[in-house]
Amino acid sequence: MPLMSALGSITLNDGHLLPAIGFGTWRVTGDEATDEVRSALEAGYRLIDTAASYGNEEEVGRAVTGSGVPREEIVVTSKLRGADQGYDAALRGFERTLGALGLDRLDLYLIHWPLPARDLYVESWKALVRLREEGAVRSVGVSNFTAAHLDRLIDETGVTPAVNQIELHPGLVQEEMRAANAARGIVTESWGPLGRGKGLLDTPAVREVAAAHGVSPARAVLRWHHQLGVVPLPKSADPLRQRENLDIAGFTLSDEEMARLGSLPQRRLGGDPDTHEE
Ligand SMILES: NC(=O)c1ccc[n+]([C@@H]2O[C@H](COP(=O)([O-])OP(=O)(O)OC[C@H]3O[C@@H](n4cnc5c(N)ncnc54)[C@H](OP(=O)(O)O)[C@@H]3O)[C@@H](O)[C@H]2O)c1
Repeated sequence: MPLMSALGSITLNDGHLLPAIGFGTWRVTGDEATDEVRSALEAGYRLIDTAASYGNEEEVGRAVTGSGVPREEIVVTSKLRGADQGYDAALRGFERTLGALGLDRLDLYLIHWPLPARDLYVESWKALVRLREEGAVRSVGVSNFTAAHLDRLIDETGVTPAVNQIELHPGLVQEEMRAANAARGIVTESWGPLGRGKGLLDTPAVREVAAAHGVSPARAVLRWHHQLGVVPLPKSADPLRQRENLDIAGFTLSDEEMARLGSLPQRRLGGDPDTHEE
């Protein structure tokens, strides 16, 4: 059985399925991006995460369409960049994204950041909802939204995002945001799930929990995400690591181990949703 199917899928609030783990593509461009996504699809990933601002949609799309994996099995995600926020601008931004990807529809489209100082995220959301209604996008969601941003979208449009993709790892456990998403029926995706190569995997707590199960630190951390009920999007350039990161079905962390990984010092590695500007 491919490793991916061992983990299964999560049902979104719009009835569509989301694979329980995905593959990230931030900071990889050119042929490297095509190679990485191609090997990730070979390894068994069926959820691929890109964004207009990553500058790699064309290369990611090439890997998807050339993979030989049936299109309906792959959930391709992209994100609306800040420069394209606003109703008409978002519709135009989406057309560019779809054209770059070389696809005839997108599976999941997210507003990348709320950018509250610009106050365009509600208008952008209306455009995403229209794209969903027209069938150009299967599911719509957001990224880096706080509970207040979510409530404004829901109050003003009546449409709840299917997904909120947020920074989440043992160094930023996001207990309140996970609860806020869950209370609104929104699936949480974790970006930076491995701590973005900034030392998380070398901390004694992570190393010791991993050693107790005879697995690598990355597998222990990804298992932690899975047991929290969130969908991690690890990125790796290395085909062996890509496979390793999918191999998290065969062991279970105890409540104590979950708590230990969740009690590391907390700090953001990326932007603050209330102030981040793109
Ligand atoms: N929505 C947003 O605002 C937002 C922001 C940031 C990221 N994202 C998405 O989330 C994805 C993941 O986040 P990220 O790429 O920032 O960080 P990440 O997945 O937490 O970490 C990636 C780093 O971990 C290393 N790594 C991967 N597997 C490993 C393993 N098994 N053992 C040791 N090291 C390993 C990678 O190195 P190698 O490549 O050398 O293996 C890379 O340096 C992104 O690619 C992107 O799709 C979204």
